[in-house]
Amino acid sequence: MVAPLKVGIAGLGTVGAEVVRLIERQQRNLSLRCGRGVRVVAVTARSKARKRGLDLGGVTWARNPLALANDPEIDVFVELMGGADDPALSAIEAALRNGKSVVTANKALIAKHGTRLAALAEKHGGALNYEAAVGAAIPVIKTLREGLAGTSIHRVYGILNGTCNYILTRMEREGLSFAECLKDAQRLGYAEANPSFDVDGHDTAQKLSILASLAFGTKVNQKAVYVEGISSIAPEDLRAADELGYRVKLLGVAVRTETGIEQRVHPTMVPRTSSIAQVMDVTNAVTVDGDGIPPITLVGPGAGGAATASAVVADIADIARGVRALPFGRPVDRLKMTTKAPMRRHEGGYYIRLMARDLAGTAATIATRLAEQKISIESIVQRHPDGDRAGAGATAKSSPVPVILITYATSEDAVHRALQAVQQDRVITGRPQVIRIEKN
Ligand code: HSE
Repeated sequence: MVAPLKVGIAGLGTVGAEVVRLIERQQRNLSLRCGRGVRVVAVTARSKARKRGLDLGGVTWARNPLALANDPEIDVFVELMGGADDPALSAIEAALRNGKSVVTANKALIAKHGTRLAALAEKHGGALNYEAAVGAAIPVIKTLREGLAGTSIHRVYGILNGTCNYILTRMEREGLSFAECLKDAQRLGYAEANPSFDVDGHDTAQKLSILASLAFGTKVNQKAVYVEGISSIAPEDLRAADELGYRVKLLGVAVRTETGIEQRVHPTMVPRTSSIAQVMDVTNAVTVDGDGIPPITLVGPGAGGAATASAVVADIADIARGVRALPFGRPVDRLKMTTKAPMRRHEGGYYIRLMARDLAGTAATIATRLAEQKISIESIVQRHPDGDRAGAGATAKSSPVPVILITYATSEDAVHRALQAVQQDRVITGRPQVIRIEKN
């Protein structure tokens, strides 16, 4: 009879409490699946007095996370406190140095210190599992690390932030502004404490840097990710996208190019018929393009107590059954460095919305400037506000009208140069809106 796996949990917030409950509820199932029991034997949290509705009788309370990590009674240190640095970091380092395995849901910490922690885990023989850090219940880490070990991956991309997807979904369905939808996301508790972390794309960037490392065997490097958020997206962009056969999503994309691994987070037009375009509200999704196989898309809940606890308990179960995958799927000394790909060299199609002066020659000027940069136009639409009879008899006093263009694949540099020239021609007002298109 193998002794039960003894688990210590640091952090008893929504996720921590749910992990305690889930282990209790799944006790029988876990022993069957792992060939041994799983028991929570020690915990630590900021407040011992707080009502959590948990039966913690017989469970030791450690003084602090570090004391728990050094407790010889535990086999696995489960970190559910959050925060990219201390106290979570020192406690995880201590647990790994003690030869214990670590399970964490902490994307910020893995994105910042993942490579170094993986080296510690390798050296001392413990596991470092972090399935819940990306896409919560979606088993995307395991898919990339183990399930696709025999496949060469050339692109991984996804909707990795529920708050942004919720905002874009509501903006599209109800024609609401970004600010209105953000307020609702905050009211419903979807957004992080600082919503800029979600809407400016940093949360997605942290998760993407982890996925890129697993997909391409690189050192996790959040600084190598180009990041752009969704705050500039207007309801009219979503309307135009719909009419043109696209949807706008905040995507994290990591792709192998001839010049290296490109990692980028930005609002993206995706074909309406693609799997990723069907993913609405707070749901997350990741698509993996592997050589020789059609794309694989995993869809599911990317946040929330139950979804996160599901992944944490699965990580604990792996340790109980003796599975020890290398944290990033390869030995740390074989992981390659990555640098930030210059976006000006990015190649793809573009959506461009301009506010054009409604005067004879404007469209011709815009077309000429694009042609000078060898940009080929897939479609061009000039819109008139309702009631304006197609700009008939436009005079110098006419108000600007939106012109929407879709380009064939070109370089970002060419788009910038063409738009700069159009601005200098004074045929448009305000800043052009530019959204990259990602084909499936
Ligand atoms: N704020 C994140 C989201 C939570 O909206 O997806 C999960 O990381």
